[in-house]
Amino acid sequence: MTQSLTIARPDDWHLHLRDGAMLTAVLPETARHFARAIIMPNLVPPVVTAAQAATYRDRILAALPDGMVFEPLMTLYLTEETDPADVAEAHASGLIKAVKLYPAGATTNSASGVADFDKVRGVLEKMAEIGLPLCVHGEVTDADVDIFDREAVFIDRVLDPIRKATPGLRVIMEHITTSDGVDYVKSNDSDLGATITTHHLIINRNHILVGGIKPHYYCLPVAKREEHRLALRAAATSGDARFFLGTDSAPHTDPNKLSACGCAGCFTATNTMPLLAHIFEEDGALDKLEAFASRNGPVFYGLPVNNTTLTLTKSDIATLFPNQITSDDGPVTVFDPGYPIYWTAS
Ligand code: DOR
Ligand code: ZN
Repeated sequence: MTQSLTIARPDDWHLHLRDGAMLTAVLPETARHFARAIIMPNLVPPVVTAAQAATYRDRILAALPDGMVFEPLMTLYLTEETDPADVAEAHASGLIKAVKLYPAGATTNSASGVADFDKVRGVLEKMAEIGLPLCVHGEVTDADVDIFDREAVFIDRVLDPIRKATPGLRVIMEHITTSDGVDYVKSNDSDLGATITTHHLIINRNHILVGGIKPHYYCLPVAKREEHRLALRAAATSGDARFFLGTDSAPHTDPNKLSACGCAGCFTATNTMPLLAHIFEEDGALDKLEAFASRNGPVFYGLPVNNTTLTLTKSDIATLFPNQITSDDGPVTVFDPGYPIYWTAS
């Protein structure tokens, strides 16, 4: 039996495209299904100025294969030296759609992130004034805070004080992984939204650690207990406009993942939409998939919903996704949910 569902074309509100050979390899995987994506600025060196964002955007568009249509939505990497005027100008010109806050040391290439939040107060106030959203990697980095508690502690110690000190600042809590994140978003007003990744809807911490360590399931924030995964599933499939898809698809080559000190990141660009169709069907919420993947994000960002579509089709035969994609930097393993998927996207 074949079943199909056509939705407004989805967008990815949190994506790592990298640069150079890796950009060339991974961009088509996203552009095949998604119309737009918020592009993370954690390159080496990071994208901190409007001029750097403009040239990165040019490199992304140059890497897009002929015939593919895709709009990169650029972001700036917030540092303690970020100039509020540069940010405002980049926003006014339409170049950037958000600024990204990485607490210093929280994750991949976050060394230039923020350690002293008082030093970015001026930028945050300017952003609130001009209506430019702040994307937040919500984890504290204090050595004495357990890695599984870092999101919940960040909400109390950093995020809530920043939001109280900066009324009107629109914030996206990115890749939430806990019921604490879900509850915080729900208990606040429309200035606060959250993205949820595909992989955090599928794996909990047992998937990473039980029966042998699974490097391809290691990402940051790290997957939490099952009760948290279920809270994320309920939020994503609820249709609540404050929750939307940000895959955090984060390519690392296999040698960098399968290492004594492996990199954090799950690469889900290739199969995210079929995986989401599976998840939403399993939860009896296929009618909410369009809200999560295609509608809630543009509404939060004040952008139009795409007028093109994507069709998801379910058949009796399990879909064969590639195990890896190749790049001139090396192979990148595609996220494997660990069970068969019968959906395809086109
Ligand atoms: O798992 C992750 N990978 N989490 C992040 O926050 C960064 C990302 C990356 O850039 O590889
Ligand atoms: Zn990310």
